Amino acid sequence: MVKENLGKVAEGEFEPLIIAYCCNWCSYAGADLAGTSRFEYPTNIRIIRIMCTGRMDSTLVLEALRMGADGVLIAGCHPGDCHYQKGNFMMEKRFDYLKKAVKNIGIEPERVRLEWVSASEGGKWAALVREMAEEIKQLGPSPFRLRSIPKKTDAAIDAFKSQRLRWVVGRSQIKVEIEEQKYRQTVDLIMQVEIERHMITLALKEKGPLTAEELSQITGLQPNKTMQHLIALRRDGIVIEAGEKNNQYLYQLV
Ligand code: FES
Repeated sequence: MVKENLGKVAEGEFEPLIIAYCCNWCSYAGADLAGTSRFEYPTNIRIIRIMCTGRMDSTLVLEALRMGADGVLIAGCHPGDCHYQKGNFMMEKRFDYLKKAVKNIGIEPERVRLEWVSASEGGKWAALVREMAEEIKQLGPSPFRLRSIPKKTDAAIDAFKSQRLRWVVGRSQIKVEIEEQKYRQTVDLIMQVEIERHMITLALKEKGPLTAEELSQITGLQPNKTMQHLIALRRDGIVIEAGEKNNQYLYQLV
């Protein structure tokens, strides 16, 4: 959907395309009010209505960026005004991790914003879109518009859809019994491991069966790291040995 509607990138002219996920009860109504009040703002934005920012799946942001959006805005009710009580607080917690995910897929985190706009703030909505369009113009077109998407990005997006990562990020929304800092470090570590494992499974899917050495060459991971991941993937029933080549085991997806 996004690719067909990409903003222009021709001869010095660049009009960014921004995808906005707006909660039904506040921000969508605020955007509507901006329209009916005839506030002027750029046409760079495409609005997608969601019921609440708390129901927003972070992978939708990554997918929009993968498909060529130059920026993504998530807009919801002001803190304390969420119609489902805590949806916006939950989104706020997840947003930090989302920004890290955006950085991990090779996109500037400034391209993604979380903002609060109420149903009566049509003026604020118009000003916000103007400001964001201007900021993204300064950043230039999304790198994914100008070059093909690196394999690491595909692996990172798949990693963020994985059950394990979703679970730990989801847990961050509730009170955890360990220090916040330690929790963040743990999530960062799991994020890294998941991305690397998805790089391996992607390579096996496209080119398998492969030896550990071949996998290291394709993914750029250190041989001992590759071996560690293969042992874990084998233990989890995701890969199996599939014969030998040059006195090394060949691995393939189950
Ligand atoms: S209903 Fe608007 S953020 Fe939850």
